[in-house]
Amino acid sequence: MMHEPETQSQPLERDLHEEDNLKVDVMSIADRAPETEDTMSNTPAAAAPPKTMISTRDFSSWYGKFKALHELNLDIPERMVTALIGPSGCGKSTFLRWINRMNDTIAGARSSGGMTLGGEDITDTRCDVVDLRRRVGMVFQRPNPFPKSIFENIAYGAKLHRKYTRGDLEQLVEHSLRQAAIWDEVKDRLKDSALGLSGGQQQRLCIARAIAVGPEVLLMDEPCSALDPRSSAAIEELIRGLREQYTIVVVTHNMQQAARISDITAFFYEGHLVETDETEKLFTRPSEKQTDDYISGRFG
Ligand SMILES: Nc1ncnc2c1ncn2[C@@H]1O[C@H](COP(=O)(O)OP(=O)(O)OP(=O)(O)O)[C@@H](O)[C@H]1O
Ligand SMILES: [Mg+2]
Repeated sequence: MMHEPETQSQPLERDLHEEDNLKVDVMSIADRAPETEDTMSNTPAAAAPPKTMISTRDFSSWYGKFKALHELNLDIPERMVTALIGPSGCGKSTFLRWINRMNDTIAGARSSGGMTLGGEDITDTRCDVVDLRRRVGMVFQRPNPFPKSIFENIAYGAKLHRKYTRGDLEQLVEHSLRQAAIWDEVKDRLKDSALGLSGGQQQRLCIARAIAVGPEVLLMDEPCSALDPRSSAAIEELIRGLREQYTIVVVTHNMQQAARISDITAFFYEGHLVETDETEKLFTRPSEKQTDDYISGRFG
């Protein structure tokens, strides 16, 4: 089955699209406590195998005639960090963009095979893309705050689809900024422009903005590559903390970073998924020679 995108690409559509990510209903994120126990059986969750959040079956994709992804079969577990690694051009961003259907905006992009989110087919034309993008937030390589105040950057998306009292909105903004570990740095300047923040602060603000609409999944495409080491370390720590509540898929070129922050690593090469495994195992005892060559710096 082929899945044709619904829209064609237009100039500036990327910016519009990023705002689209925020045009969603808002649910109370404070209600989403981490699941730590199976209350029915009193079995600790750690003993149970992790649930799958995103699953692909023979998933392929094309840009026109160019096949960018080849029959991927990958299960991404819930509430863990999955790192996507591989040389430039191997399809990491392409894969990430199918998870919230951002490729719909690229003319000629299409896919075949299955991709589910929480068991729901998200390649289907009947899939509610606006709701999908609420459930699957995205953080980009370059922080892209809106040219608005810090407060409005968080409140804007939330207000689009639900009426808030001023008090509720203030609570949501504070909660989101706290979750993104930036509250203490900005609480006294919420009315100031977000563009006055440092790059690292802007990136945490963008994470807060993504969190504010109550997603289940956070996609991050090289979220630290435009940041200095100290800001990168802050984002890494944040990612580790957020995995208690969110399923996180992060693309990184930094092997040490993948090893530090992820539970599972998937190695892509020329549009193929070569290997996926627990991060510790993939980096110490990879099954495939190609993976070994890449992680030991022999190519890429
Ligand atoms: N909009 C597009 N139109 C046509 N081809 C594209 C488009 N976007 C990506 N590609 C091609 O698809 C392949 C995968 O690209 P993609 O951006 O997914 O790679 P990547 O692994 O994210 O690379 P990088 O590490 O450099 O970001 C590349 O060959 C790329 O040239
Ligand atoms: Mg990329």
